[in-house]
Amino acid sequence: MSAGLIEPHGKQLINRSLEGHERQDTFEQAHALPRITLSKRNIADLQCIATGIYSPLEGFVNEADYNSIVKDMRLSNGLAWSIPVTLQIPESDAEKCRLDSQIALAHPNGEILAVMTVKSKFTPDQDHEAQNVYLTTEDAHPGVKAMKAEGPVYLGGPISLVNDIPYDNFLEYRLSPVQTRLEFANREWNTVVAFQTRNPIHRAHEYITKTALETVDGLFINPLVGMTKSDDIPADVRVKCYETIMSLYYPKDRTLLGVFPAAMRYAGPREAIMHAIARQNYGCTHFIVGRDHAGVGDYYGTYDAQTLFREFNADELKIQPVKFEHAFYCKLTGGMATAKTSPSAKEDRIHLSGTKVRAMLRDGKKPPAEFTRPEIAQILIDSMQAPALSAV
Ligand code: ADX
Repeated sequence: MSAGLIEPHGKQLINRSLEGHERQDTFEQAHALPRITLSKRNIADLQCIATGIYSPLEGFVNEADYNSIVKDMRLSNGLAWSIPVTLQIPESDAEKCRLDSQIALAHPNGEILAVMTVKSKFTPDQDHEAQNVYLTTEDAHPGVKAMKAEGPVYLGGPISLVNDIPYDNFLEYRLSPVQTRLEFANREWNTVVAFQTRNPIHRAHEYITKTALETVDGLFINPLVGMTKSDDIPADVRVKCYETIMSLYYPKDRTLLGVFPAAMRYAGPREAIMHAIARQNYGCTHFIVGRDHAGVGDYYGTYDAQTLFREFNADELKIQPVKFEHAFYCKLTGGMATAKTSPSAKEDRIHLSGTKVRAMLRDGKKPPAEFTRPEIAQILIDSMQAPALSAV
C-alpha cells in the first residue's frame, strides 16, 4: 500500500449513488415526482457529483454557494471552488419544482437517473456570472453560449443517483475516484501527475506529460470526454489516439488512462482550478497546467490559468500545479523544448496552428513528425475522411 494518498477536496470523497433496496425504492417512488429532463452538460455534472469527482459537492449548487463561487471562487463555507455547477430550467418548469420537495431528474431518453431535493430556487444575473466566470458576456464564447442556452431559473440541492447513466462508450476508462485511488495504491504510486486534455496528444503534450512524469511516480492521462464545441476532435477519435500513443510511446507501468466525464466550459483560468480540484479527488498530487489551459479564442492570456493558482494557498488546494511554458520542437537543440530550456530564435521553433493542422489532415497530409506522431496523424486523417466516404 502507498503511504496515504492525497486527501479529497473537503477531506471526504462524496458518493451520491444509492445502492440496493434504497436505490430501487427511491427509483420507483421517483416516477410520481415532478420531472426535469437533463441536458448533456447536466448529465456530465450529475455523474461527476454522484461519483465524487466534484467532492465536496453533493448536488447542484444552492444560491449562497453560487453567489460565493461567482464572486470569490469559494463555496459559502470558504472552500475553493471556481465554477458554479448549476441546474438551470426554463421558466415554464419552475412552478412544479417546489422548495424542500423532491424532483426526478431524467435522461432525454425518459429514464429517471436521480432525485433531487430542491433547497434553493433563484434567477441570477447571467451576465454577471458570465463576466466573472468567463471574463466576457459575449455569446461568441462557447461556455457563455452554453450557459445562457440553459434555462434562467437555477435549482440547487443534493442529488441521489438511482440509475446508472447509460453510457455506451469508453466503459473500461470510466474510472471513479474510488477506483483510481485504489489503482494508484496498487501500483504504489505516492505521487501522481494528472493531465487534462480535449485534444489528441501531440508532441508538445507528450513532452510536458513526460517531463512531469520524470519527477513523480505515475501519470494519469485524463482526457475530458463530455461535451466539447463542434470543431474540437470528437472524443471517440481521441480515445483511439490516446490508446495508440500510450501503447507505442508511453511505459505501461507508469501511465494510466481514465476519461473525465465533465463537459468543457472553456473558462480558461477558472476552469483550470476546477480541473485541478477534480484531479485531486481522483487521488492525483500534481496537475499539469500549460499554455492557455482550457482557453478558447483570445479570451485569456497565455499564462493566466497558471497565475490564478496563486490565489489559493497550499491549505486550500492540496494538489500542486505543474506549470509549463509553451512547448515546441526546436531545430537548434534537436528536440522538444520551451523558451525556458532552449536559446533558439523564433525561426528555429516549429509551431503549427490548430487551423493549419486541421486543414492538412482534411487534405490527407500528415503534419511533420516534430508536431505529431505519424500513427496519430493517420488516425486523424482516417477520421476526417470517413464522413466524406460514407456520404458517397
Ligand atoms: S485544454 O482545453 O484541455 O486545456 P489542450 O488539450 O490543448 O486543451 O491542452 C491540454 C494541456 O496541455 C493544458 O494544460 C494546456 O495548457 C497544455 N498545452 C497544450 N499545448 C501546449 C504547448 N504547446 N505547450 C505547453 N502546454 C501546452
